[in-house]
Amino acid sequence: MIFATNFKTNNTRNSTRLYIESLKEFIMENEIKDDILVFPTSTAIDSFSLPENIRVGVQNAYPVEKGSFTGEIGLEQIAEFGIKTILIGHSERRTLLKEPQELIVNKFNYFKQKGFEIVYCVGESKEIRDEGFESAMEYIWSEFDGIDISYEKLTVAYEPIWAIGTGVSAKTKDIDEVLSSLRVKIKCPILYGGSVKSSNIKEIISIKDCDGVLVGSASWEVESFCKIIKNGIKG
Ligand code: PGA
Repeated sequence: MIFATNFKTNNTRNSTRLYIESLKEFIMENEIKDDILVFPTSTAIDSFSLPENIRVGVQNAYPVEKGSFTGEIGLEQIAEFGIKTILIGHSERRTLLKEPQELIVNKFNYFKQKGFEIVYCVGESKEIRDEGFESAMEYIWSEFDGIDISYEKLTVAYEPIWAIGTGVSAKTKDIDEVLSSLRVKIKCPILYGGSVKSSNIKEIISIKDCDGVLVGSASWEVESFCKIIKNGIKG
């Protein structure tokens, strides 16, 4: 299983350090072997001494080593901390920041070429979902345009926009339907994201093609994220 936390614009440099220390302690004490990914804000990235299954990644970066891209970070700023994991295509970047598929593909190709582990997000809006399952799948597949789905360090995260930050996750049946359709072509791990919490993790993780979760709000406090991991571990 993969348990990923997306801090978005939450936690400080100091609280992130304390968070990661507590998380590490919890993982080691409980001998958890599942993969744990932490995506802090870019001001909080650092070199953390962690076991191999806990990895810190960036929520975003510009597809360059360095240069004139005001407000962005590039490979140079990430490599300083030995970070090799990146989140690409999150719906908040696609919608709020108007990131077009072309830029997303450039990011994907750049960080793929640099050997990064990529968590690639897709997911439909409420309007599209209301048109029905076929429309939702058509839209989701369009978000894979230009993306090498056979990249060996790829993880896909299916996050229906209407379930993000609402407190109401998608229904198990709906998630199952999308994940099984994706599974026809997508062989890498597939995560679900959208209002995952300790009370619904068991149900979500029991979905056949679900290999883990990407958690936002319910993961911003370490106790809450650890509870999700504890409740979600299979076996
Ligand atoms: P949420 O966010 O868990 O707060 O719904 C998930 C995400 O956006 O990755």
